[in-house]
Amino acid sequence: MKNKWRSLLLILLAFLLVACGKQRQLEHPDEAEENMTVVGFVQIGSESLWRSANTESIQSALSKEAGYFLVYKNARQKQENQIKAIREFISQRVDYIIFSPCEETGWENVLQEAKSAGIPVLLIDRKIETGDDSLYTTWIGSNMVEEGKKAAQWLEQHQMDYFQENEKIHIAVLTGTEGATATIDRMQGFREIQSQHPEWEMIEEVSGDFTTAKGYEVMKQLLKVHRQIDVVLSLNDDMTFGAISAIEEVGMTTGDEGDIKVISFDATRQGLEYVAEGKINVNIECNPNQGEEVKKVIQQIESGFYIFKNYYIEEEVFTKENVDEALPNRTY
Ligand code: AHR
Repeated sequence: MKNKWRSLLLILLAFLLVACGKQRQLEHPDEAEENMTVVGFVQIGSESLWRSANTESIQSALSKEAGYFLVYKNARQKQENQIKAIREFISQRVDYIIFSPCEETGWENVLQEAKSAGIPVLLIDRKIETGDDSLYTTWIGSNMVEEGKKAAQWLEQHQMDYFQENEKIHIAVLTGTEGATATIDRMQGFREIQSQHPEWEMIEEVSGDFTTAKGYEVMKQLLKVHRQIDVVLSLNDDMTFGAISAIEEVGMTTGDEGDIKVISFDATRQGLEYVAEGKINVNIECNPNQGEEVKKVIQQIESGFYIFKNYYIEEEVFTKENVDEALPNRTY
């Protein structure tokens, strides 16, 4: 009889051990301590200086010292890789999922799966297009429509410094990844102001995929095709660096005193250096430091606070007037 109870107890213990083990099938279960908050984070890739700074910001805010176990994945610019990683996070039963959607559409199914599993999803940086905003808990990032408007407002305020009244201004646009918020919203903001300026002519819009190599390549092509380019509107610094190299290669110059005025986005350290050197006229900041805000929101969720659907990060505009102040503190 005694033996029968002992066997039953052993079976019960074995069952409990298996059940607990199944709760979180982490990739590195030994490293995640019981009291840690487990977060799955799948980044778009590492296409730009901005992106690397954004990854670094999330990684340093959600550190082990702060009580987080971060499972990080790099999707290498592919939506299918982001979806695969989110599914892995769901099967690992992480506590939170964070991701920056490479493009706006195509997320419904996987987010429905996360919702059914009861895992809060925090979007960062870019947004998704959906009729059902219960599919994610919150979004933390930049107001990119506003960024586009700031770019156009700079041109509006400075066109008289470089061009005659009512003179046609030929604008070539280097957009980023197609379907991405950073492309869609910045262009929407810019166009809102452009609609009041019939003298601004968009001569061509072409995607440079947010990379220096592609920015160089497409700018080279634009210079071959268009006789006159007055302004380059480049939706991130990395593409701008490539574009400036292509412009300089054909013996032209950029910036305040140059042949082509350059409007760039991100305000990375190198981007600000180009402003200081006079190669970029204006740099619209997109702030990648979202980690601390993400951590704050997670803490608020844990404490049962009301969570807003959007959290915006502060940003500035840099020209040669204020760039020297910002440069010493720019780490990325
Ligand atoms: O979504 C933010 C944009 O994506 C940044 O402007 C760009 O550099 C990055 O790749």
